[in-house]
Amino acid sequence: MSRHIKIFDTTLRDGEQSPGCSMNKAEKLDVAFQLEKLGVDIIEAGFAISSRGDFESIEAISENIKNSRICSLSRAIRPDIEAAANAIRKAESQRIHTFIATSPIHMEHKLKMSPDKVVEAAVGAVSFAKSFVSDIEFSCEDAGRSDWNFLVRVFNEVIKAGATVLNVPDTVGYQTPEEFGALIKYLSDNVSGIENVDISVHCHNDLGLAAANSLSGVLNGATQIECTINGIGERAGNTALEEVVMAIKTREDSYNCHTNINTKEITKSSRLISSITGSIVQANKAIVGANAFAHEAGIHQDGILKMRQTYEIMDAEMVGLTTNSLVLGKHSGRHAFVAHLKTLGYDLEKEASEKAFVRFKTLADKKKTIRDDDLHAIVSDDSQQTIETYVLEGVNVQSGTSTTPTATVTLSKNGSPVTKTETGDGAVNAIYSAIDAIIGESADLEDYIIQAVTEGIDALADVTVRIKENDRVFTGKGSSTDVLVASAKAYLMAINKRINRRDNPRVKAHI
Ligand code: KIV
Ligand code: ZN
Repeated sequence: MSRHIKIFDTTLRDGEQSPGCSMNKAEKLDVAFQLEKLGVDIIEAGFAISSRGDFESIEAISENIKNSRICSLSRAIRPDIEAAANAIRKAESQRIHTFIATSPIHMEHKLKMSPDKVVEAAVGAVSFAKSFVSDIEFSCEDAGRSDWNFLVRVFNEVIKAGATVLNVPDTVGYQTPEEFGALIKYLSDNVSGIENVDISVHCHNDLGLAAANSLSGVLNGATQIECTINGIGERAGNTALEEVVMAIKTREDSYNCHTNINTKEITKSSRLISSITGSIVQANKAIVGANAFAHEAGIHQDGILKMRQTYEIMDAEMVGLTTNSLVLGKHSGRHAFVAHLKTLGYDLEKEASEKAFVRFKTLADKKKTIRDDDLHAIVSDDSQQTIETYVLEGVNVQSGTSTTPTATVTLSKNGSPVTKTETGDGAVNAIYSAIDAIIGESADLEDYIIQAVTEGIDALADVTVRIKENDRVFTGKGSSTDVLVASAKAYLMAINKRINRRDNPRVKAHI
């Protein structure tokens, strides 16, 4: 049997930390359920001390997830560790992840601590964490730029203090695969007792090498990979789960190891993250991009038709990609609808399935052919469980070459409707001005993106909007066959998220 490589998913912590990717509690819980289905070994559910919202999300995930270990991040200080231990206390299987920086530049300029003090803090943190749970992961932040012998010293000491996982982060994405592999080998050869603990790799993608570096780590002894869905994360992101998992599966002959990931859940996981965060996956992204299994060139198409393997190294079905077939129509009933959702992997609760069915019927009235992608959009529309302080009741627009674009919008708050009419440079601008007029404040619009979910003139439009307040970005998404309605829904969702956040602020900055 080949080596088992543990998959430690940090979408809800490192991924969520990146601009525009913040999620609320209900969204995080949805993601956690999907990660459990995907089969990840460990879910890093958040950074408990960073906010009340993060703490409550970790608690909720701990109470609900049974098949993955739940982990919270903490700096190497007691209040962080206590918060982490508290947040995961109801999880069936628990881990505390504590870290301190070990590179000269971080120790001198950020921590302003001597190397001796850093070792002392690391050991103190691990021993303290060990008084709450048995599984303790310790990370040397910026290990990629740390002195190798100092890493050996720190890891030797934390193993003695009870660490069960040694994580080696390339925090700034500076490493090359050769160098990083050599570092992992050096640690494997020189840290006492390392054979009894997991060696973990945590790579950032600043040079586009995160997956390559992680895999090089595996070839040199790493037993755990830290990664995120779609590679979301700080700056250029983290190692993409789908890339390392499919590389290990497709090239088992090279890597001689396996993961527990149910690869058929990859596409669904990718779509869920993209839909919740509004972070759109580039079309040519490996494994989950829209073009990852598309063939345009005539020679390629010809080859594929003759024998799929001529131009495809993976079967699209292996990652859960179904043919985007014509599935349902206006006359399809509830049974057929629910049954088809099941084939796409959605087993919805009664209330959610009822809501999705109503949305399906509304769409089927407007659109002749409903395809799988429409159904994914219909279902994901309900995963945006933002508390709706303002509800969109109606939007009407007048616009054209010889009229000033004018929008009349009705929103209700606590059941009371308010209507305002405003003009703008264009129809969307007029709608947003009317919404601002009702709410009584405007928003700093960072991004406005329209995507067609399916092909054809009656395609569902997906609009993603990002608004900014101070250093926080709020993402809203809306879909409709009408681009203007989708635009209004997306903007309002971002505004409602901003209101939710004001009611539930982060009490501390991130790391
Ligand atoms: O990139 C990093 O160093 C981290 C640590 C907190 C593990 O995310
Ligand atoms: Zn990181």
